[in-house]
Amino acid sequence: MRRYDCVVMYNATNVVEIEGCREKAYPSTILREEVGAVEEALREGGFNPYVLSVERFSKELVALLLELSPRFIFNLCEEINGETELEMCVAGLLEMMEIPYTGSGPFALGLALNKFHVKRMLRAAGIPSARGYLLAAGDGPNPRAARFPVIVKPVHEDASLGINSSSLCRDPGELESQAAYIHGIYNQAALVEEYLDGREFNVSVLGDGDARVLAISEIDFSGLPEGEPRIVSYRAKWDEESEYFRTTKPICPAPLGKRLENRIKAMALRAYRCVGCRDYGRVDMRTDARGNLFVLEVNPNPDIAPSAGFARASQAAGYSYADIILRISQLALERGAK
Ligand SMILES: Nc1ncnc2c1ncn2[C@@H]1O[C@H](COP(=O)(O)OP(=O)(O)O)[C@@H](O)[C@H]1O
Ligand SMILES: [Mg+2]
Repeated sequence: MRRYDCVVMYNATNVVEIEGCREKAYPSTILREEVGAVEEALREGGFNPYVLSVERFSKELVALLLELSPRFIFNLCEEINGETELEMCVAGLLEMMEIPYTGSGPFALGLALNKFHVKRMLRAAGIPSARGYLLAAGDGPNPRAARFPVIVKPVHEDASLGINSSSLCRDPGELESQAAYIHGIYNQAALVEEYLDGREFNVSVLGDGDARVLAISEIDFSGLPEGEPRIVSYRAKWDEESEYFRTTKPICPAPLGKRLENRIKAMALRAYRCVGCRDYGRVDMRTDARGNLFVLEVNPNPDIAPSAGFARASQAAGYSYADIILRISQLALERGAK
């Protein structure tokens, strides 16, 4: 086999259309443009990457990894065996095979899959997260655990799956109907959270140990039609044809006063460390109507495509796309050398 020195490992996206689902897959969600971009960046940095699509665990996969024996793996796998719940097992496999790999380890990846677990950990560490509770199928709303209006979202999805114009609920009737949608379509408990009626920030963090914020991006909701909730719904994130996409624009760097900027940076780093993220991550935050800051969620191994928020933040911090991919690779190599 030709001499490859690293591997870009990814999963081919598995699109399942569920009848009645309001978050259908759009072309931009199917295309894994990051794979080719990461490969090219590695070549630019003098590496010779082998690009490996992984669908299922097999002994052939283990044999191939042993044969390639790469210096490190750029891990872009978000699922294996068709299960996003098994994302952490890919990192676990590389851990056991003692192959250095980029991004977070199995614990952070597994933990971050469940927004309610993360919320409890953040709150226990004194990091503000909106008040909320889990609503399983068959349970009734608990208005004392979260005051209306609330946001209702699936507890273990990402990419705004399950988030649409009806996710903001103002009364028990709306809440029950949206929770039934989550239970029926996404087959999981709904996370009910107090609605934070303020600004929204995405904070990109780089590093392992000495992590730092690259840049803060803000979503500009000002063009959204009157009456639409000021949230980043699935269509706002992915449906390039829709007005939700056009009217929820990320602005990076966000226009911020020094004090708020420092508060956002400090809280994002605390949340990143609390979940055990490493190399690269994105912390989503919002303020409430009074300007209090909260962490919405922590994303280890976020989308690192050139068009995604993390790459935009890297650029705002003065790095080219190749710079940032090589820096992340370096972090994996340094861990391997220890
Ligand atoms: N408690 C909340 N208050 C206001 N908006 C929220 C709240 N929770 C989620 N959202 C909105 O829904 C979007 C997606 O929620 P998030 O928790 O970040 O999940 P995902 O993993 O799908 O990105 C956020 O970007 C935000 O606009
Ligand atoms: Mg988010």
